[in-house]
Order: sequence, then C-alpha cells, then structure tokens
Amino acid sequence: MKSLSLMSAGLLLSLAACGPSDPPVAPPETESETAAELDTALHDDIENGRAIVVENCTSCHAVGPDGESPRTDAPPLRYALSGLSAEALSDNFREGIHVGAVDMPDFDFGPRGTASVVAYIQSIQEAPPAETE
Ligand code: HEC
Repeated sequence: MKSLSLMSAGLLLSLAACGPSDPPVAPPETESETAAELDTALHDDIENGRAIVVENCTSCHAVGPDGESPRTDAPPLRYALSGLSAEALSDNFREGIHVGAVDMPDFDFGPRGTASVVAYIQSIQEAPPAETE
C-alpha cells in the first residue's frame, strides 16, 4: 500500500515535470532516500518472512496469494488477519502463546523472524470470501 502510493506520487511528479513550461522539479532528496530505505527494509522482512512461512506453514496452510489450504481446517494465511490483528498475532508468536489448532506446532522465530512472518502475512492479506466465516 505504502510503496504503491509512493510510486503513484512519483508518477504524478514525473508527469507534472513533463509540462512544456514547467521548470524541472527537484526531487526532495533526503525524504525520498529515507522512504526508499524503509521500503527496502520492509521488502527484506517480507522476503525473509515468505521463506520462513513457505518452509514452516505450507504443510497445513495455503501460504500464497491464492490456492486452498492442504488442511481444510487451517485458514489460508491470506485470510488469517481477518479475525485477528497483526499486533495480536505477533504478540502471540513472540510470547510463545499458542496460535491456531491444538496440533499446530509452536513456533519461535525470534523478534526479527516474527516481524518478518507477520509482515509477509500482512502483505498477502485479502478479505475472505463472503461464504467463509
Ligand atoms: C500442523 C498443521 C499446521 C501448521 C504446520 C501450521 N498451522 Fe497455522 N493453523 C492450523 C490449523 C488447523 C488452524 C486452525 C485452528 C482453529 O481455527 O482452531 C491454524 C490457524 C492459524 C492461524 C489463525 C489463528 C487464529 O487465532 O485465528 C494463524 C495466524 C496461523 N495458523 C498461522 C500459521 C503460521 C504462520 C504457520 C507457519 C509458521 C502455521 N500456522 C503452521 C494448522 C497448522
């Protein structure tokens, strides 16, 4: 979401800069560099989280942007935050509070790993279909 709106802001800027009488628009160097660094850090977290999730969760959950879970009682992770906040989920993982079904293993990814897993899960969230509760 954030990077999308940054991208469209950038697009608007460059479109505006194309006007024949407009002077070249100097980009706000410091701000855009900071935003780019943040974006890169978030991107790294999401990639890291994707790797952890693919390795640990695929046997039960659908972990990508589509598909059904191998275990029908495990929600696809792209719906997992519809009834649970990202904060609650990361607290649960971080504090070792059990998440999910009785036979879902307990995980300890450490603070960085937990942040990554939650960032990845957030990045794939979508509203569950109406017929799913
Ligand atoms: C052995 C199978 C299994 C594995 C492996 C597994 N899960 Fe689950 N998980 C489940 C099941 C089954 C449920 C549904 C539990 C329920 O609704 O009571 C669930 C539920 C969840 C929920 C929803 C919890 C809630 O309170 O709404 C989340 C989030 C979740 N799992 C994340 C993960 C993540 C992230 C991983 C990998 C790190 C993972 N699970 C690995 C079986 C599994």
